[in-house]
Amino acid sequence: MTLRLGDTAPDFTANTTDGEIHFHDWIGDGWAILFSHPKDYTPVCTTELGAVAKLKDEFDKRNVKAIGLSVDTLTDHEGWSKDIEETQGTALNFPLIADDGRKVSDLYDMIHPNADDTFTVRSVFVIGPDKKIKLTITYPASTGRNFDEILRVIDSLQLTADYQVATPVNWRDGEDVIIVPAVSDDDAKEKFPKGFEKVKPYLRVTPQPNR
Ligand code: BEZ
Repeated sequence: MTLRLGDTAPDFTANTTDGEIHFHDWIGDGWAILFSHPKDYTPVCTTELGAVAKLKDEFDKRNVKAIGLSVDTLTDHEGWSKDIEETQGTALNFPLIADDGRKVSDLYDMIHPNADDTFTVRSVFVIGPDKKIKLTITYPASTGRNFDEILRVIDSLQLTADYQVATPVNWRDGEDVIIVPAVSDDDAKEKFPKGFEKVKPYLRVTPQPNR
């Protein structure tokens, strides 16, 4: 099944390194990032999982829970976790789904047979409190992800969920944002008391409203 932005993230029950979880209940009222990696005991995946563990404070600040997945067993996940702690200097602090039955991988279309018919690609799903999919990204096995970029998108998603703004190219938290075209100039004066610059009728820039 192809999952698209705005679709409800499929719910599932799975075994993880933190015990059995019911995905939607586990997400609760916050945000989640579900990401797959191709295989345990592989080098790029080892660096990625260490990087996600190091970002725990950043995810917590944004009310985001992280959960990883591969088609390996719980025994493999537990053994490999020790290597991650040893080599990356951080213990895993988020659950890893043991999807050796491929239930979740199939639900989320994480195995791309023309790339590899056995292992999951590097899929990323950001899911909102409404359980809708807000972001999908797919990387090949050979490229480690940029989780700083994923945090940047989460900042944008959380901002645009609360205000009628969009974020421009290469935007980072704290920088000016764009007022969406659906807001009239008169309404913009009320909604954005810090004011706005009208570069073009369709391009109006205002300071980030929640700062
Ligand atoms: C890795 O994590 O290093 C990796 C896994 C599968 C294919 C290529 C690289």
